[in-house]
Amino acid sequence: MAYDLIVIGSGPGGYVCAIKAAQLGMKVAVVEKRSTYGGTCLNVGCIPSKALLHASEMFHQAQHGLEALGVEVANPKLNLQKMMAHKDATVKSNVDGVSFLFKKNKIDGFQGTGKVLGQGKVSVTNEKGEEQVLEAKNVVIATGSDVAGIPGVEVAFDEKTIVSSTGALALEKVPASMIVVGGGVIGLELGSVWARLGAKVTVVEFLDTILGGMDGEVAKQLQRMLTKQGIDFKLGAKVTGAVKSGDGAKVTFEPVKGGEATTLDAEVVLIATGRKPSTDGLGLAKAGVVLDSRGRVEIDRHFQTSIAGVYAIGDVVRGPMLAHKAEDEGVAVAEIIAGQAGHVNYDVIPGVVYTQPEVASVGKTEEELKAAGVAYKIGKFPFTANGRARAMLQTDGFVKILADKETDRVLGGHIIGFGAGEMIHEIAVLMEFGGSSEDLGRTCHAHPTMSEAVKEAALSTFFKPIHM
Ligand code: NAI
Repeated sequence: MAYDLIVIGSGPGGYVCAIKAAQLGMKVAVVEKRSTYGGTCLNVGCIPSKALLHASEMFHQAQHGLEALGVEVANPKLNLQKMMAHKDATVKSNVDGVSFLFKKNKIDGFQGTGKVLGQGKVSVTNEKGEEQVLEAKNVVIATGSDVAGIPGVEVAFDEKTIVSSTGALALEKVPASMIVVGGGVIGLELGSVWARLGAKVTVVEFLDTILGGMDGEVAKQLQRMLTKQGIDFKLGAKVTGAVKSGDGAKVTFEPVKGGEATTLDAEVVLIATGRKPSTDGLGLAKAGVVLDSRGRVEIDRHFQTSIAGVYAIGDVVRGPMLAHKAEDEGVAVAEIIAGQAGHVNYDVIPGVVYTQPEVASVGKTEEELKAAGVAYKIGKFPFTANGRARAMLQTDGFVKILADKETDRVLGGHIIGFGAGEMIHEIAVLMEFGGSSEDLGRTCHAHPTMSEAVKEAALSTFFKPIHM
């Protein structure tokens, strides 16, 4: 039987695309090589890491945060096995949820490795090596990304001593020490998990800032707070080697600006130096699907590859490697295939780092506005001046809003603080509607909430805050 659409890959991009297409009346098949749906995000990425981030933060709070609130807990004990069981159960309920949604939308699942044979043809090879060919009017490649490793450095991952994010989600015991190579999102989130559980964590980062690309002021503040939590940072340090040694591993790095190399030992080394588009084994070269200079599938404005009827979305194409960006592209491409006007607004894609405090941002950073020569104004408000934050002893951080100097249109929002990942969305909605800081500052916010700091930051962008 010929399908209207075959989606290769069932991560957030692929599964959302499949469901949306089915909702629009298409007969859809999904090809997935893992034994469960959900891709990296649900199986070994966003979802399990959030389970561990929450659980480890509760442990940390029980040890360090509750006493000041008058809650005395005697010697909280870590049961790592149980914490991992909670993580596994969280993953299971999410991947089962995708299976349920596929059944509900009458989507056919094929387990095996998908290969594009050309326009309208996809082969699926299962674990036994048996191959079958499926036919469809349209194909969407949503194969995501893989661990990139350290550019130019040979790394032998064993996922026990030298681990990627996958191994770092499943360590059997808390290591005494951990070196994290890369001070990006994965390094800081998973470094936080193990630091809270008792590991001595050192982050080695090439750039002279953590979270390169995020608002500089926010990144500096986060580094200060993570340092207070016991994480060490070696910035401007290029890792040139990471090898197993005895029961642990050694990491060698040299100052980017030149100078002597240093070698550090640790029980576990986490390599978190980025991800690369996953295109291996897809048969793209043979099928004539063109890749760009960075190995990503090249697409036009409508997500179509160099072959008519073959589309690509998510981590395998240009843009930020974020689950929600892939989801929105999945919806948009399904709409385009259905003859509707699918669209993604790349100017308003929020980003969240789930450290404690969280970091969240949407739109332009101050650095980007400066580089583009845009005249802007800034409004900032600290959580130390927010009643709810004081009541919860969560006063670390601030909200920063950037607006066009002439028109007052909000161009970016940056939050570091407890629950930042939830608060960012009101700025995102405002930006989708082309709103101004005055619009945001004049919107009634419930009291007492952390979100009042967003309103106050907006008030200070266009005039003056009340509570400062
Ligand atoms: P990343 O690109 O965020 O950070 C990698 C870091 O490694 C960079 O700061 C880079 O300068 C550094 N680096 C590269 N080579 C190095 C070397 N030789 N020595 C020292 N440092 C070096 O990549 P990461 O953290 O691995 O994440 C991969 C992708 O997954 C990202 O696109 C990220 O957005 C996404 N992700 C998003 C999450 C979220 O939204 N909360 C959570 C986890 C991952």
